[in-house]
Amino acid sequence: METEQKIKEIKDKAVASIEASKNSDELFNLEKEFSGRKSEFNNILKGLKDMTEEERRKVGPAANSAKNEIAAAIEKKRQELLASSFDFEAEKIDVTIPGTKKDVGHLNPISIVQKEIVDIFTSMGFEIADGPEIETDFYNFDSLNIPKDHPARDMTDTFFLKEKGLALRSQTSAVQARYMQKHKPPFRIIAPGKCFRNEATDTTHEHTFYQFEALVVGEDVNVGNLKHIAEVFFSEFFKKEVHVRLRPSYFPFVEPGFEFDISCLVCGGNGCSACRGGGWLELGGAGMVNQNVFTAAGYPRNKYQGFAWGFGFERLAMMKYKIDDVRLFHGGDLRFIEQF
Ligand code: PHE
Repeated sequence: METEQKIKEIKDKAVASIEASKNSDELFNLEKEFSGRKSEFNNILKGLKDMTEEERRKVGPAANSAKNEIAAAIEKKRQELLASSFDFEAEKIDVTIPGTKKDVGHLNPISIVQKEIVDIFTSMGFEIADGPEIETDFYNFDSLNIPKDHPARDMTDTFFLKEKGLALRSQTSAVQARYMQKHKPPFRIIAPGKCFRNEATDTTHEHTFYQFEALVVGEDVNVGNLKHIAEVFFSEFFKKEVHVRLRPSYFPFVEPGFEFDISCLVCGGNGCSACRGGGWLELGGAGMVNQNVFTAAGYPRNKYQGFAWGFGFERLAMMKYKIDDVRLFHGGDLRFIEQF
């Protein structure tokens, strides 16, 4: 009787403290205290073998059910603690909510166009040449057959620097002599880069813009090559058949010199509202390299022939992406850039 009473007391005490426990550490300690191998309760169970048959009949089942009750109390408490430590509501994830878009940068359409131009010309075996944006009189003018005090110096409105003999280059043609001084023909290059002109800006004029120069020199280069390579390039660039038209024009560094047109991208040359009925779009200047340019670069006169052109990136990008104001490219408005 006495043992049964003791079992009941232990069990009641165990269940009460288990129910009162506040966290899993407390519960763990209680479990050790009441059902571990060294627990008081275990000692009673161990003592069963020394009891009389009659005692054992009573104490055995009582101890067993007390043990089960304690185990059940522990399990119940464990579930409770688990549930309260995990806030299911807060942890709920709605996998159908659209994700937040990562803020990635955008390439300026000028950069996109530059990359495409470089890709197309590299695939045709051209090399990419480069030159400084601050240029000397020699490369920007003299080497291009534009002598000092010659009115042709005013063809482009140049930004001159205070340092005598320096200017922001007004055309990528300035790269021509730089390249030729270091390389012997035959070669074919394009020279993409920034140019500057001191002009009032409007929808089609910018003081800072990009050009790419082409220069192909060898012993038997002719106008037919110029036209063909240009047609292959523009057809590839605009992904449609493009025709080229050359009109006589004057640039000191070429002879003959041409104004360079391509067939209208909308009507193909028949005349429509996009080309104001003309069928052609003016793109820039081109021509056969003047022998004076070769001699300025150190080549013998009349040994080589070559063609050159200089086209603006902005014009190409405007046609390709239907942009109606050249000032958007360098205006810094993110709403513009983010469209590309
Ligand atoms: N450099 C000329 C310009 O900027 C273009 C051009 C380049 C013309 C090469 C002929 C040959 O207008």
